[in-house]
Parts: sequence; structure tokens; C-alpha cells
Amino acid sequence: ELDRIPHPPHRLPLLGDVLGASRRTPLQDSMRIARRLGPIFRRKAFGNEFVFTWGAPLVADLSDESRFAKHVGLGIANLRPVVGDALFTAYNHEPNWQLAHDVLAPGFSREAMEAYHPMMLAAAGLLTDHWDRQAAAGRRVDVPGDMTKLTLETIARTGFGHDFGSFERDRPHPFVTAMVGTLAYAQRQNTVPLPLAPLVLRGASRRNAADIDHLNGTVDALVRDRRAGRSTGSGDLLDRMLRTAHPETGERLSAQNVRRQVITFLVAGHETTSGALSFALHYLARHPEIAARARAEVDRVWGDAPAPGYDQVAKLRYVRRVLDETLRLWPTAPAYAREARADTVLAGEHPMRRGAWTLVLTSMLHRDPEVWGADAERFDPDRFDAQAVRGRPPHTFKPFGTGARACIGRQFALHEATLVLGLLLRRYDLRADPAYRLRVAERLTLMPVGLRLGLDGRTAPP
Ligand code: HEM
Repeated sequence: ELDRIPHPPHRLPLLGDVLGASRRTPLQDSMRIARRLGPIFRRKAFGNEFVFTWGAPLVADLSDESRFAKHVGLGIANLRPVVGDALFTAYNHEPNWQLAHDVLAPGFSREAMEAYHPMMLAAAGLLTDHWDRQAAAGRRVDVPGDMTKLTLETIARTGFGHDFGSFERDRPHPFVTAMVGTLAYAQRQNTVPLPLAPLVLRGASRRNAADIDHLNGTVDALVRDRRAGRSTGSGDLLDRMLRTAHPETGERLSAQNVRRQVITFLVAGHETTSGALSFALHYLARHPEIAARARAEVDRVWGDAPAPGYDQVAKLRYVRRVLDETLRLWPTAPAYAREARADTVLAGEHPMRRGAWTLVLTSMLHRDPEVWGADAERFDPDRFDAQAVRGRPPHTFKPFGTGARACIGRQFALHEATLVLGLLLRRYDLRADPAYRLRVAERLTLMPVGLRLGLDGRTAPP
């Protein structure tokens, strides 16, 4: 069945298609191979063979929920020892998926988002205070570092009534270091030849165990505080996890499952949004004409209200397009896996047995020239104006995944990121370092490395 799917020409025993591949950038290597081999291809690495898919018609077919579903495999499966059957890593058949989904979905309703809005503003205020100081001292800002502080504070405060004090620290919070460690470890496990894994990963696996202990310890303390009434959440995610029963079955999340959900939300709730904001700021600094247009919109929609209201965020249509275009080129969760629910034929061409799966390369789907044109690599937010969107086939833009297992935090991320970009555009002129070349670090998620920007305060920001 695989014979019709191309693969790279030079294969090594054991190592597979690893010539020219780097363990640190498996996604960007796959993107290079994709450009050579086309919309569906095979790649053998370290004893396993994976099928990658990115051509738009193929991905559209994989979006058919009646024949395909999420597959928990590769990097995501490697996170199971940390977060088990929590929402992101649950197998489709595990009962805790539906239970947690139904209990937590109202935490992402419009009403819930309106309640988070003032807390998001407060977290953004910590960032602008920090940036004001950096600007006054003539220092360039560490964009990915600061965006990670911001998004961690945002999800911790809105979801869990917890303050990590990120902006009072010079170095990342130990929770972030432990998280980055486990994500990188999960990715690395796929890139070490299986027979050698115990040897190569021994030191790393000891560090990973310590990282997991740290994540668990942080979360257990946070839950203890809430149970003891030392933190209040007035209906936040943690309250829902601890107190809300399923509306139909009356069932509640177990203590073990709550721990796994809290880690999941703290990680999924900040890492990808931080990357999205960082890439967006990179593009805004690189394209002053786009930044000027976005800023004009912010000035027009927000006027000189000291703090924008909830409804004023959704009205930033152009800023939102900047974000969409950023997530097109660098979807910060750059792939997701789909498996066949029963024997089927993908796009009428590729037979798949029940349970067979393929990795969708979102970052290449979003650059398919058949959909996005010959200039697909160019940054252009106008690709997301209403008319252009109407003109495109469905299932061609998937930064948040697809179907029942798509991102539950999508509106949260979009509201937070649009709000923050609006606040930063209104307050600062961004100066790119002309010598900077975009380099992308991979740890399951994507992040621009070494991105620093100069800031000029605009005259009399509100
Ligand atoms: C699932 C992307 C922000 C929580 C997903 C998936 C993607 C994704 C692609 C599907 C993964 C798969 O099919 O295997 C993103 C991006 C974000 C973002 C690009 C920011 C720009 C958030 C936020 C939260 C969150 C802010 C929470 C507050 C989750 C959870 C799942 C998920 C819990 C699992 C849902 C389920 O399987 O039921 N996300 N996400 N994400 N995301 Fe996000």
C-alpha cells in the first residue's frame, strides 16, 4: 500500500532517511523533504516509517470526521507519562476525554472569556511595565522570553488564580524550564535509534524524571492552595476541574486527572501562544507598512480609552489578520496526526487500514502553492480579508487542528494575542535588528530563537 508514496532516495540501515537531517529540527527537515517529494511522502527514521501529508486535497479528505480521527502518536504519545489521559493526550476511546471536554468547554464560552479579559489586561500591564523600563534604558527586548512570561502569567492567573511572578525574575520560572525539558525530551525520543535509546537517553531520562517531579510538585501546591481556600477563582478552570460535575452523568474528575489537566492547560495554554506572538512581532518589525496599518486600526478602534474593553478586541480585524498570517507561515503547533476509523482509501488513491495514520504537516499545507499561490512564502495579511477567505476551499487553514479534538483554547489564544498585539502597537515602534535572520527552534512547538527588538516609545501613549 505504501509503494505509491515516494521517499528520499538514500536510505541507511537502522538510521533510515537521516542524511542531512538534524535531530534538533525534525519539522524543518520534513518541510525540506516535502518540497522535494510532494504532497504525500514517507520518511523512515530510526526503525520507524512515517507517512507525511500536506497537499490540500489530501488534508481536506483527512478532515472527514466520519472516516478519520485524531491519532495520539509520535511526540504526543511521548507526553503520556507526564499527562496521561488529560485532554490533549487522551486516546479517543478514553472516557476521561468526553468527561473533561464537557466539564471544561464552558470555561471557553464567550461569558468566560469576558471574565478573563480584565485579568489578561493586568498580565499585559506587567509586560508593558517591563518593556517601558527596557526602552527607557535603551535596551532591546528578548521577545520569546518576554512573550513566554506574559502568556504563562495569563493562563496561570485566568485559569488557576496563580501568580508565577515571571516578570520579577531574570531567568525563566523553573516550571518553564521543566516544561521545555519535557517537551524537548518527548521530541528527542523520536530521533534516537531505538536500540540505542536506553544508552543515549539515560542521563536525559533522569533529568526528565526530575522535570516531571517539578511539574507535579508545582501543580499539587496550586491545587492544595485552592482546596484550602488560599486562592479563589470564582468559576475559573481550576474551580471547574475540582467542583463541577458532568451535567448528565454527575461524574467528576479524579484527583489524578485534575493534576494531568492542570499541567496540560498550563503548558498548552501558553507555549504556542507565546510562539505566535513572537513570530507576529518579528513580522511586524520587518514590515513597517503592515505595522503602520495595524496601528492605525488600533488608534481608530480604541481611541484613547486607557484600557480596551472586551468587545474592542474582536473589532481589530486587521491585527487579527496579521495573527492569522503569522499562524499560516509558522503554525506553532506545526503538525497533527490523523488515523483511519475503518479501512478506507485516502482521497480515492491511498488505501489505509483501520488504525493506519499519517502526520499532517500544517506548516506545508499552509504553503501549498495550489491554494496560496506562487508567493505562498511571502507574509501578507490580506490573504485573510473576508473576500480572500471566501474564495479558498475549506480545510486549507488548520493552525488549531481539526474536528472534535481541535484546540479548545482557540478563542482564548486569539483574544489574548490580539489584545496584546494591539497594546504593543499602540505603545511602541518596533525596531528590527537588520542582522537578524529568522531561526526557528523546535521542541514539538515552534519558537523564533534569538529574536530581539528595539523599542521606541510613541509620543504620549495612553
Ligand atoms: C489542542 C494549537 C492555544 C489548549 C490543540 C491542537 C492544536 C492546537 C493544533 C490539536 C492537536 C492535535 O490534533 O493533536 C494551538 C495553537 C495555540 C493554542 C496554535 C495558540 C496560538 C491553546 C490555549 C489552550 C489550549 C490558549 C488553553 C487555554 C488545548 C487543549 C487541546 C488543544 C486542551 C486538546 C483538545 C482536545 O483534544 O480535546 N491546540 N493551541 N491551546 N489545545 Fe491548543
